[in-house]
Amino acid sequence: MQDIPRIILVAGARPNFMKIAPLWREMHRLADMLHPVIVHTGQHYDHAMSQVFFEQLEIPEPDCYLDIGSGSHAYQTAEVMRRFETLVEEQSPALVVVVGDVNSTIAAALTAVKMHVPVAHVEAGLRSFDRAMPEEINRILTDRISTLLFVTEPAAVTNLKNEGVDAGQVHLVGNVMIDELSRNMERIQTHDAADRLGLAGERYGLATMHRPANVDDETSLRAVLAALCVAAERGVVVFPVHPRTRKNIDAFGLREQFDAIGNLRCIEPVGYLEFMSLLVGSAYMLTDSGGIQVEAAWLGKPCITLRPSTEHVITIELGRNRLTEPDTAAVGDALDWAEAFDARGQSTPTVWDGQASERTVEIIAQFLSSA
Ligand code: UD1
Ligand code: UDP
Repeated sequence: MQDIPRIILVAGARPNFMKIAPLWREMHRLADMLHPVIVHTGQHYDHAMSQVFFEQLEIPEPDCYLDIGSGSHAYQTAEVMRRFETLVEEQSPALVVVVGDVNSTIAAALTAVKMHVPVAHVEAGLRSFDRAMPEEINRILTDRISTLLFVTEPAAVTNLKNEGVDAGQVHLVGNVMIDELSRNMERIQTHDAADRLGLAGERYGLATMHRPANVDDETSLRAVLAALCVAAERGVVVFPVHPRTRKNIDAFGLREQFDAIGNLRCIEPVGYLEFMSLLVGSAYMLTDSGGIQVEAAWLGKPCITLRPSTEHVITIELGRNRLTEPDTAAVGDALDWAEAFDARGQSTPTVWDGQASERTVEIIAQFLSSA
């Protein structure tokens, strides 16, 4: 009897875990054909940025942990490559699956492809067309070296076509994050995270910020502070603070100014179920996250994105996301838009039907059986 092919699923940072969870589940369902191996690079390592997702999303502990930790881009990328190479040698996978656009994504993909192991990229083709974003570099390079490109929305198909990618490599399957969200909706709805913050029945906004362009220099972070202030003038804003942002708030001596905003509730990053429960109960989302734009759009929440561009253009086309300058007047306008927003009667893209992981794994199984 032939060995069941091993497929390495790579995850390293917070936005990766809810993407590998439905893929792992689907592969596990086909355990007589596929053997999924979860590799955690350790790019994110705090309990609230990592472990909590394994607990809440009901996926097994990683099979392998590379323990790379924090560092510069070159450090993280090189260290994942060094450690992942040894692992690929030991595991002899038939395929490496990478998700999203973090440093662990490109590092694992580059390692695998040089060892002649084919790579599948989940969330391929997304482009912000802003090369100052480290993620944009990671996306372009990962797509360039991947064999299978799994795409979440039509614009990504166009982007890949415009880059000259062979159409046979591109599969518009939908969004695995939506699979995970729809699977967990019942648990999310009974989670009452807002009640636990003493916000039962209260109108509140939810905010997250962590993009280097917004939080890595003092002027930008002060602009974020001003934007949060404008939002908080209209009611409570719950702000789970990303570790990068927390570090910079302290480094720039802005802690007191954040604490002084009466309606701003700065809290630690929260688990997936708590975060989704807060989002479901919120009046609007104010963010610079990639994934949260998609989750908010699927939930029909107005999302104010404090960025000049987005790779998730479908959220703009749906009318559920608004790109906004970090300037107080623009944020005020966006808050007016969010207050008037009504998603009732609007339809959700058919490709976001919660079946993306099933389609992805089916294509992977076909690919491996014909290899
Ligand atoms: C990374 C990704 C970004 C993604 C984000 C999701 C890259 C280039 N960036 O950015 O695309 O949107 O994750 O959250 O891959 N830290 C902790 N504890 C942790 C993790 C990080 O304290 O568990 C702190 C460290 O001080 C670290 C800093 O946060 O230096 C930044 O972490 P890093 O992984 O380098 O980048 P993120 O900003 O998290
Ligand atoms: N998230 C979470 N707790 C938080 C903030 C975010 O569970 O306190 C989830 C969020 O719902 C989404 C993912 O983390 O599924 C997005 O991660 P992040 O914004 O860090 O990364 P990005 O998508 O911008 O790369």
